Amino acid sequence: SASSAPVLVAIDGPAGSGKSSVSKQVARRLDYGYLDTGAAYRALAWLALERGVDTADEQAVRGVADDFDYAISLDPGDYWVRVGVTDVTDAIREPRVTDAVSGVARVRPVRESVNRLFRVLVAESGRRGVVVEGRDITTVVAPDAPVRVLLTAAPEVRAARRSREITTQDAAAVADALHRRDAADSTVVDFLTAADGVSVVDSTDLDFERTVEAVIDVVTVSLGTP
Ligand code: DC
Repeated sequence: SASSAPVLVAIDGPAGSGKSSVSKQVARRLDYGYLDTGAAYRALAWLALERGVDTADEQAVRGVADDFDYAISLDPGDYWVRVGVTDVTDAIREPRVTDAVSGVARVRPVRESVNRLFRVLVAESGRRGVVVEGRDITTVVAPDAPVRVLLTAAPEVRAARRSREITTQDAAAVADALHRRDAADSTVVDFLTAADGVSVVDSTDLDFERTVEAVIDVVTVSLGTP
């Protein structure tokens, strides 16, 4: 029925693992909703920058989070992110936001309030299921999800994928920023090792379609449906 909780497919992994594009495609294939949790941290970092708030100042970041009017689409075919009336879908991908986001994501009370928001978004989605992707979904946000996947790839492959996406910076700078962000983010949540019961999909030697297939296979096995 429409009132029952959606089936959750929890997908974690580092930057450049193909997590976002794969999760979106898996959601399309299953006719599920899609929730990009990293976008909330990015939108908050964007808002902090807009307000000239130092993202190294935890107290100031908490102040920004207390007054965070956030909206995100859960439709994998029509993705957008808004803060107040501003569409920030593209702005939150800018390197200045990417560089600031770890500072925001490491503030514990911010994580707690963002996680509450995720649970509300999922519960109110009206969807049969939702693919939720991030760094701590399989461990903190939805540890009881019936499907939990860690999507990994070798660091050099992730850096190469990222530098193909970001054409405004040279490859070495992109790789450097990615490794710095991994290091900073891993001090907050461990997204490089699979927790108990989490299936690992390593996309190092898989193209996009095969990675999607591998995740769909985990869903099929976990839910016991064809
Ligand atoms: O997946 P992404 O690159 O858009 O995520 C942006 C940042 O947000 C990333 O540097 C780590 C943080 N993040 C997090 O701490 N927990 C999540 N569930 C998702 C993202």
